[in-house]
Amino acid sequence: MFIVLEGVDGCGKSTQAKLLGEYLKGLGKLVVLTAEPSKSMVGVALRQILRGDAEVDARTLALLFTADRMEHLKAEILPALESGKIVVCERYVLSTVAYQAAQGVDAQWILELNRFAPKPDVSFLLEADPKTAAARAKSGEIFEREDFLKRVTQNYYAYGGELIRIPPQSVDKVQAAIRKVVAGRI
Ligand code: TYD
Repeated sequence: MFIVLEGVDGCGKSTQAKLLGEYLKGLGKLVVLTAEPSKSMVGVALRQILRGDAEVDARTLALLFTADRMEHLKAEILPALESGKIVVCERYVLSTVAYQAAQGVDAQWILELNRFAPKPDVSFLLEADPKTAAARAKSGEIFEREDFLKRVTQNYYAYGGELIRIPPQSVDKVQAAIRKVVAGRI
C-alpha cells in the first residue's frame, strides 16, 4: 500500500508521517517512511538549490524533482511495495504540480512528465493556513513565504482531485482522521 502526505511547508507532514508509521507498525505491518526530495544524487542537488546555493529555471526544477522521483521509485518505493511493505511518503507528484506551477510552470506539462509515476493508493492534503505555515517553516529554504504558499495551496485544490483533505486541527485529531481513512483500506 502506497500512502502519500501532501501539504505546504510547515503543515506538519513529518510529524503525521511518523505517527502513522507507529500506528501501522503497532498493527504488525512492515512500514517504510520516506520523503521527496529523496536521498538520490538528484535529491542532494535539489537540497542545495532549495537552500539557495544555486538558482535554476523553474522548469529545470520541475525536471529535477521529476528525475528525483524516478530514482526514488526505483531505489526505494517500488522495491518496498513489491515486498509487501506499506510506504508512507511525504510529497510526491502533486508537490511538483503545486509548487512548480506556483512558479509559473505549465501544470499539464508537469503532469505529462510524471505519467510514469504510479498512483498512490491514498493521498492526503494536510491543510494549513499559509501564514501560520510560513511562520512555522523556518529551515531557510526558498519557498517558505506566505504569498507563495497561498498559490501552492490553490494549486493543490485545482489539481489534487484525488487528495483527501484534512483540515487544520490538533496533531492528535489530524492523526485520528488519517488513521480512520487508512484503517478502512488495509
Ligand atoms: P520538504 O523537505 O518537504 O519541506 P518541508 O518539510 O518544509 O515541507 O520539501 C522541501 C521543499 O521542496 C519544499 O519547499 C517543497 C519543495 N518541493 C517542490 O517545490 N517540488 C517538489 O516536487 C517537491 C517534492 C518539493
